[in-house]
Amino acid sequence: MGVRAVIMGPPGAGKGTQAKLLQERRGVPHISTGDILRDARRAGTVLGCEAERYMAKGLLVPDDVVIGIVADRLGGQNHNQGFLLDGFPRTVPQAEALDRILDEGGEQLDAVVSISVPEDELVRRLAGRRVCRQCSTMFHLEVDPAARLARCDRCGGDLYQREDDREETVRARFDVYARDTAPVLRYYGDAGLLHEISGVGDREAIFQHVTASLP
Ligand code: AP5
Ligand code: MG
Repeated sequence: MGVRAVIMGPPGAGKGTQAKLLQERRGVPHISTGDILRDARRAGTVLGCEAERYMAKGLLVPDDVVIGIVADRLGGQNHNQGFLLDGFPRTVPQAEALDRILDEGGEQLDAVVSISVPEDELVRRLAGRRVCRQCSTMFHLEVDPAARLARCDRCGGDLYQREDDREETVRARFDVYARDTAPVLRYYGDAGLLHEISGVGDREAIFQHVTASLP
């Protein structure tokens, strides 16, 4: 039976990096609402066009839109392989909706892992991040550069800089995290599900802490 978990942390904390490792090594499906919204934007769907208005400014896409996406992805089925949600929930109403979605299938969360990283390190990570357009693998210009300039080591896709990684948008994303998402940490702390770990240092060492937090 797979683990049902959430990974949290501010922009650049390494949520996607760790979730991809967990998917590769333990087969736990990685569900990133940010990746789903970026895919929709690229495909030019109605959802993608609506989401773009918020994402470009570093603001949250409205709760009903994002809750609908997660309900479609998780609702009405058993999750025998489990899942790791990355970037959801980001508000207390989203956390309450997730409880309801899982409850309808007789399931509940096993754990919530929160990764902390000092803000100056987050800024450095986001400024240097490059992402594969095809498989969304993350690289960093200094810490983890791709072997060939602007080409993904894994699939050969184009690497690009996310539009919301510009400095002024990054500031807005930090403010939104502190205002809207920090209360979600308290919500899961009160539920006895929260495991807080440091996200500074070698990503393999951090992965050990992530897996140690999961049942
Ligand atoms: P989303 O895509 O979720 O972005 P985010 O939460 O801001 O987080 P990031 O993806 O920027 O960072 P990460 O923690 O995944 O770090 P990564 O592993 O890439 O959301 C984007 C937008 O979509 C939101 O602003 C909002 O508009 C919308 N949205 C999404 N979900 C929503 C929701 N639920 N409700 C409403 N709106 C929603 O790592 C960062 C960099 O650091 C990489 O370059 C990586 O290589 C490097 N790195 C990773 N680990 C290490 C390490 N240990 N040491 C050094 N470098 C490292
Ligand atoms: Mg991410």
